[in-house]
Amino acid sequence: MTMPIKSICCLGAGYVGGPTMAMIAAKCPHIKVTVADMNEQRVAAWNSDTLPVYEPGLDAIVASALGRNLHFTTDIRSAIAGADLIFVSVGTPTKSYGIGAGRAADLRYIESAARLIAEVSEGHKIIVEKSTIPVKTATAIKSILAANSPNGATFQVLSNPEFLAEGTAVEDLQSPDRILIGGEITPEGNAAVEALVSVYANWIPRERILTTNLWSSELSKLVANAFLAQRISSINSISALCEATGADVDEVARAIGMDSRIGPKFLKASVGFGGSCFQKDLLNLVYLCESFNLPQVAKYWRQVVQLNDWQKSRFVEKIVRTLYNTVNGKRIAILGFAFKKDTNDTRESPAIQVCRDLLHERAHLAIYDPRVSAETIHQDLIAAGVSPELIATNMEICSDPYTAIKGAHALATLTEWDEFRTLDLPRVYGLMLKPAFVFDGRAVLSLESLVAHGFEAFVIGKGL
Ligand code: UDX
Ligand code: ADP
Repeated sequence: MTMPIKSICCLGAGYVGGPTMAMIAAKCPHIKVTVADMNEQRVAAWNSDTLPVYEPGLDAIVASALGRNLHFTTDIRSAIAGADLIFVSVGTPTKSYGIGAGRAADLRYIESAARLIAEVSEGHKIIVEKSTIPVKTATAIKSILAANSPNGATFQVLSNPEFLAEGTAVEDLQSPDRILIGGEITPEGNAAVEALVSVYANWIPRERILTTNLWSSELSKLVANAFLAQRISSINSISALCEATGADVDEVARAIGMDSRIGPKFLKASVGFGGSCFQKDLLNLVYLCESFNLPQVAKYWRQVVQLNDWQKSRFVEKIVRTLYNTVNGKRIAILGFAFKKDTNDTRESPAIQVCRDLLHERAHLAIYDPRVSAETIHQDLIAAGVSPELIATNMEICSDPYTAIKGAHALATLTEWDEFRTLDLPRVYGLMLKPAFVFDGRAVLSLESLVAHGFEAFVIGKGL
């Protein structure tokens, strides 16, 4: 018999946990949803008018349920104790130390969450992995739970990977292509899977809810992101060839994308992919292949990351070479710092590497992003190895694009914010030093139009 779920808790109020739980609460008024996080500031922000995550449409979803059946708290223990079903949505960064450094996922937050769940729980609970995790993490969680439950609690562990993309999280949660739930193939496992299916079935058609074994579910998440990232590296590799030959990468993408076997999505050439998932999941996949002694497979997927790194560095080289081999002391306006439009997230944003390298070339950067705070930009660059002194002397954050552009030798677009498509080009040209150089890393500007307005222009993937 399916266990009816009355109370859900989620550990981790981040980019995944917050929006996902808000949607569940909005769609299931009969279920109490508590999101618990030890980060007091984050919890306070979720309870305020300024949410910690910027997502179009999210404010309304949160407002519809907050205080009714949606609660954000730092009281993690009570949240666990009161829940039938617990989502684990804590961060899983790439390990920066020890064995597997730079590739394997750091599971310390998952492990401490599992230990706390074991300690606090009584009765039967369903634990759902929501974080992106390496395959076989469920086994680790299960063994921690089994070995540390003083109150004799019993557990079923499910995998329910998140496929939402930032910037479209609300849409993706509202009508996902599919929901994937993996569980143990036993009567208890099947019952737990059914309990979670019944939560999603409140708004998602049954045929879009797939159930698999645990390992298929865990692996599917890595493979989905690896395939998506691979398409971007594929088109980015072709962008370089287009620039060399005089072809236009968008025309090539359109021509190949009309083949229904290839399809039109995820073929937009760029300065490189970013975001918290692609690189991390690719590296996880590489590490997994190496662990299972499949070096050829590991090498194949590693190349997707390497091409992405090359794409970012060749963009910087293009700027430096074009500006007469030196950017020392030159003002460069940077438009966009987020890893893509419609988000304030900067994790693994290509802008970090590009700005770091330009600062190390002693350029003077004037950065504008409509959503990313100055504090985040500072923190990201310091974490990337830029010295605070260099930041203090060579970088400024501007509150509008034209201030950034004023007096600049060059302008580089690094995020495809819609507002950059409608920049007033005569005004931009008038504000810049001459020759006025534009490096469009997102192909948001038209090469023809830039040239017609007098700019010396480079647009990614467009040969002259
Ligand atoms: C991704 C997956 O899409 C999502 O399913 C998963 O759950 C989490 O990881 P996200 O990182 O939010 O989502 O963003 P996504 O839209 O996939 O973009 C990732 C990066 O690729 C961005 O930097 C984006 O600018 C870049 N990109 C995307 C391109 O350069 N070209 C494209 O055609 C598409
Ligand atoms: P994601 O993009 O996967 O949502 P984030 O880093 O945005 O990742 O969010 C993860 C959140 O999980 C952070 O706010 C962090 O404070 C929280 N967290 C980490 N460990 C725990 C834990 N044991 N219990 C509750 N929250 C946790």
